[in-house]
Amino acid sequence: MGVPIAVVMSGEYDEIRPRQYTPPQRLWTASPDGVHRARHALASQLAAWGMSALADDAGLVLSELMTNAQRHGRVPGRDIGTSFLRTEQGVILEVHDARDERPVLTKAADTDERGRGLAIIDAITGGRWGVTDREGPGKVVWAAVLAPADVLPNEVDPSGSAPAS
Ligand SMILES: Nc1ncnc2c1ncn2[C@@H]1O[C@H](COP(=O)(O)OP(=O)(O)O)[C@@H](O)[C@H]1O
Ligand SMILES: [Mg+2]
Repeated sequence: MGVPIAVVMSGEYDEIRPRQYTPPQRLWTASPDGVHRARHALASQLAAWGMSALADDAGLVLSELMTNAQRHGRVPGRDIGTSFLRTEQGVILEVHDARDERPVLTKAADTDERGRGLAIIDAITGGRWGVTDREGPGKVVWAAVLAPADVLPNEVDPSGSAPAS
C-alpha cells in the first residue's frame, strides 16, 4: 500500500502524477458523441471499481478535458485518447491530444461564457491536475478525482472486483 492519496496536498502531487507516458487505453472521435460515450464508459468503470460516488465529479472533469482536447487540441484526422487510472482513493483521468500547445488556467470575467473549464477542473480536483509530455506530438492532460476517506467506505475493494449487492 502506498501513501494515502487523499492527503497529498497541492504542489506535492508527485505521488499521484502519472510519471511516464503510456498510450491511451481508448480512442474517441473528436465529437460531442465521443464525449458522451467516454462519459458512459467512465461511469461503468467507476461502478465496477465501487467508486460510483465519484461519477458526477469525474464525469464533469472528463467532459471539460475532452471538450478542450477537441476545441483546442484537435489535429484533423487524429482521435482523442483517454485512460482511466485507478488509485486507492479515486481515479486519474488522462486525455491525450495531438497538439503541442498547453492548457492555461485563466480567470474568466463574470460575463465570459468561455474560459471556465480549467477553473472547474482545478476546483473539483483541488489543484491535482497537470500536463505531461507524450511520445510524438501532443500532450496528456490529466486530473485526479479523489474522494475523502469517508466517502468510499469499504466500497473500494483492493482485489478490483465490483462490490457485492
Ligand atoms: N487540450 C488543450 N490544448 C491546447 N490548449 C488548451 C487545451 N485545453 C485548454 N487549452 C487552453 O486553455 C484555455 C483555457 O481552457 P478552459 O478554461 O477550458 O476555457 P475554454 O475551453 O472555454 O477556452 C483555452 O482557451 C485554451 O487556450
Ligand atoms: Mg474548455
